[in-house]
Amino acid sequence: MAVKHGGNIQEISEIYQMDKDRLIDFSANINPLGIPEGVKRVLTKGIEELVHYPDIRYRSLIQSIAAFHELPEEFVYPANGAAEAIFMLGRTFKVDKLLLLAPTFMEYEASFSQQQTEFCYFNLEQRDFQWSISELIQSAIKQQATGICLCNPNNPTGQLLKQTELDKLLIFCRENEIVLIVDEAFVDFTREENSFVSSLKDYSNLFIFRSMTKMFAIPGLRLGYLLTSNRAILADIEEKTVPWHINTFADLAGQQALKEGQFIKDSQQYTAQERDFLEKGLSAYKELELFPSQTNFLFFRYLGSGCLQEKMIRKNILIRNCNSFKGLTQKYYRIAVKSREDNQALLQALEAILCE
Ligand SMILES: Cc1ncc(COP(=O)(O)O)c(C=O)c1O
Repeated sequence: MAVKHGGNIQEISEIYQMDKDRLIDFSANINPLGIPEGVKRVLTKGIEELVHYPDIRYRSLIQSIAAFHELPEEFVYPANGAAEAIFMLGRTFKVDKLLLLAPTFMEYEASFSQQQTEFCYFNLEQRDFQWSISELIQSAIKQQATGICLCNPNNPTGQLLKQTELDKLLIFCRENEIVLIVDEAFVDFTREENSFVSSLKDYSNLFIFRSMTKMFAIPGLRLGYLLTSNRAILADIEEKTVPWHINTFADLAGQQALKEGQFIKDSQQYTAQERDFLEKGLSAYKELELFPSQTNFLFFRYLGSGCLQEKMIRKNILIRNCNSFKGLTQKYYRIAVKSREDNQALLQALEAILCE
């Protein structure tokens, strides 16, 4: 079954005719520590605010985001999830030929195809998921790309580019006037130093997407943003934006979430610890070839027979089958890093399947 995203627990439970509350969802990469208490409080109190329209310019939210990243407020476009930011940029900004990683998050292609953008690819599987920025640059030159879109850390592989590699890429893009689009939806599970944000001032054709739905466990609320120093594009995007596109709850939650520094640190630490636990557990099986990840999900090749996702669903565990990602020819799966209890349940289910 080809699906575009993880987290579709309702649909899966209907297909398999099982109670959705019994399924443990490892297919969406959401912080296992859940919504920060401070954000929950703000949401509860925010009910009274619903009788008013949100601030149509989202001034307080923009101030919070700008202060968090130490950027001018003019660089910030708050959005209804990073997904909205991706689509608004794709609808507004024409890139003639965009180089994408394969595999990567699928919505870049969907959003930029609206402008008749041509796509070319940098295939990761052919390189056994080991590659350098120099190779990516060579590929961009060879394929005459006018833009490069990166997901860092990449979904679904979990690979993270280091700052020195990012710097090399930025220099190349600036010197050759190549548009650089970076999706940092999962970078906050690593460290803020891994972000490209500090380079925004140096290049007006750099665009960064950030999501708040993963770290703060609010995918149902929807909040993300676009950062760029390109004011002309931001003005164009704002003109196309539906008024009040972010609801009051998301507006308030976002302002509070960015004050939750300790929660972010605890989440990074917990994710790293649990990723380690899962990595050790998974590496015991010769049927699983695990690739190193630096974020809150793991990516592996399954060398056994049949569909591992189906077998796991029968054990009440939903994992992400990566067969719908472009550029993957074998059987790959992605699992979120969750709580110790859930991670243990996943390893037990795997043990039962792989040792039966
Ligand atoms: C890499 C990547 N970018 C962006 C998004 C969209 O995030 P949001 O929930 O903020 O719209 C996702 C969602 O899974 C994602 O995996």
